[in-house]
Amino acid sequence: MLFTRKDFPEGFDFGVATSSYQIEGSRFGGAGRCQWDDFAATPGNTKNAENGSIAVDHYHRYESDLDLVAAGNFDCYRFSTSWARVMPDGFTVNPEGLDFYDRLTDAMLARGIKPCATLYHWELPVPILDRGGWRNRDIADWFAEYTHAIMSRIGDRMFSVAPINEPWCVAWLSHFLGYHAPGLKDIRATARAMHHVLLAHGRAIQTMRDLGMTNLGAVFNFEWADPADHSPEAAEKAALYDGIYNRWFLGGVFRGEYPANVLEGLGPHMPDRWQDDFPTITTPVDWCGLNYYTRKLIGPDGGAWPGLKEVEGPLEKTLMGWEIYPEGLYNFLTRTAREYTGTLPLIVTENGLASPDVIENGTVDDPQRSAYIEKHLQSVRRAIAEGIPVKGYYLWSLMDNYEWACGYEQRFGLVHVDFDTLERTPKASYHQLAQNLRR
Ligand code: FCB
Repeated sequence: MLFTRKDFPEGFDFGVATSSYQIEGSRFGGAGRCQWDDFAATPGNTKNAENGSIAVDHYHRYESDLDLVAAGNFDCYRFSTSWARVMPDGFTVNPEGLDFYDRLTDAMLARGIKPCATLYHWELPVPILDRGGWRNRDIADWFAEYTHAIMSRIGDRMFSVAPINEPWCVAWLSHFLGYHAPGLKDIRATARAMHHVLLAHGRAIQTMRDLGMTNLGAVFNFEWADPADHSPEAAEKAALYDGIYNRWFLGGVFRGEYPANVLEGLGPHMPDRWQDDFPTITTPVDWCGLNYYTRKLIGPDGGAWPGLKEVEGPLEKTLMGWEIYPEGLYNFLTRTAREYTGTLPLIVTENGLASPDVIENGTVDDPQRSAYIEKHLQSVRRAIAEGIPVKGYYLWSLMDNYEWACGYEQRFGLVHVDFDTLERTPKASYHQLAQNLRR
């Protein structure tokens, strides 16, 4: 990888990201069941019906995992706190859960690592789901109570906090496409989730402001959409995909409006007086996080709204089948700043790929990952050179983990994990990054 810290502005942060359900082991420490435990127990939802009950047992191995973050010369560790661990029934605090995140925080600080928390990376307690989950407007208040519980314990030591990881996944992927928990395919549930997820974001930001916290942000996943051909129909559908995936959330949080092409379909299913919630949703944040992986080629499928069809693209692909398209990251950094966030700091909060990594003679060669990282960092540098205020870049992920519906098949880590012995082995890309990021 051809870069060093000198190629980035002073104070630019490099980090690695994980999430609680994907690594901790949901059966440990008195955590309650979360929606993923039940979703995975339903045949056909996850690869081999795999779940995160043990995951990679980070709950017991966090000290040595944080040693890997420190030895990799990363500045930041982006982790998530699990609502189901902190409040197993959704409402009552589990002291063991608070203690765990307290220990984890101190273990980061002891190693000079900046703690970057996400309050929700999809660990919905099932009693909340039973009350309608993201369909129920009250979730915004319940989420604010959870925010208060965890942040009144560890908020004094956080470097940064974002309430919700990837609202598109929380709402659209999980309630319209049905690929993620709770696995619904229901436009009314989707419209409500699309709105309530942003309302909960706003309430959590307000709650943390009331606690006196600073450096609060929002984290979105963006996918670049190109028309599958030169027809006006493909252009229209690519714009709709962009609206649903990207502009809905940026528009909501930074402009207090939703895109017209998305409201065309969701409008009739929105909760009453949704417009009145924008003052909460637009509560100012201090930075905007972008998770970026790929692009899609989009055309019409001829069916009912939204009527989108994904067409296979010609570019090199990762193990997930995702095209490698670093220009998309440049496009999003520049467009987000120019159209939505202005001078607000931007952080690439996730970027990375899955590859078929195997251990041979004690080492793991992952050249596709190194090349991917290098190309995406070039996009970051290009945006910075044009004056876009990009302040950090975090890799997904520190180590191989539970990749949701794909189970343990997709390895996104810089560190290989043997899922039988749980042994950690840093891959070649990890060693290269550690070298390039020396201070
Ligand atoms: C993101 C998620 C993360 C992981 C990566 C591959 O959408 O935030 O948990 O699944 O994709």
